[in-house]
Amino acid sequence: MKVVQHKFLWENDESHRVFWEFRRRSSEEVFRDVDKILTLCSLSPGSRILDVGCGIGLHVAEFGRRGFHTTGIDISDFAVKKAKEACSGLTACRIFKMRGAEIPWVGEFDLVLGLEHVLGFMALTEIRIHLQKMWEAVAPKGTFLLHIAGGTLEAWRQRYPVNKWETQNGKYVLVDKHLTEDGVKKERTLIIDPSSDTIEEYLEEQKYYTCAETLKLLTESGVKNIQIMSDLDGNAAREGKEACFFVAYKQ
Ligand SMILES: C[S@@+](CC[C@H](N)C(=O)[O-])C[C@H]1O[C@@H](n2cnc3c(N)ncnc32)[C@H](O)[C@@H]1O
Repeated sequence: MKVVQHKFLWENDESHRVFWEFRRRSSEEVFRDVDKILTLCSLSPGSRILDVGCGIGLHVAEFGRRGFHTTGIDISDFAVKKAKEACSGLTACRIFKMRGAEIPWVGEFDLVLGLEHVLGFMALTEIRIHLQKMWEAVAPKGTFLLHIAGGTLEAWRQRYPVNKWETQNGKYVLVDKHLTEDGVKKERTLIIDPSSDTIEEYLEEQKYYTCAETLKLLTESGVKNIQIMSDLDGNAAREGKEACFFVAYKQ
């Protein structure tokens, strides 16, 4: 059998192709999230928004349709191309291929946000610069909103390990996901396709941070007045496993 190996990295088009196939969002979901974000951050049309790690640009386009001047950045060629397509015809929107750590804007945005954000593929030094640049881009009286994909390490500890096999469209799928002591998720998924005599192997390593670690990273990066919420309705997180949203209002 032929073996094809993919290592999941956000810079790889192949990783994005697989990710967006699995992570489908309905337009209702995006519409509802945008409604809640605008309420949480008290924004009115004309405000400036920066979406860091904007993916395929669904939120950028929705903010743009509502009259917000929205900039989206992402490190992936695949995502940037799709985001530009999603925003075509929306003059209030612009999309750049850029790492968070390279954000050049200071004090320019009424809202800087990261949705389904993933810190754990970056080295610690980059995470600190990334968060610092995001915070610096927030204008006085503006809002910083960081949504951690799937929540903090406390939430992931409840879901892992996963060891299973299943059949999908005539293919055999074997999944092995577990967390190491220090919160690194290791995944190895094999997709065996007897019809093409191929085995695809997906490998992923990602560090998850606890609520306290995330808070420390944000604080070390200069972010001030942080509130930890469990949802976009603004409910406070009572435990680390509920902590998904880190919100800070600049003075
Ligand atoms: C889980 S997806 C979420 C996308 C989008 N925010 C959403 O909610 O649909 C994470 C996105 O962050 C991007 N990303 C990862 N690391 C990044 C970095 N250092 N700077 C900018 N974007 C990054 C990835 O390419 C990917 O598109």
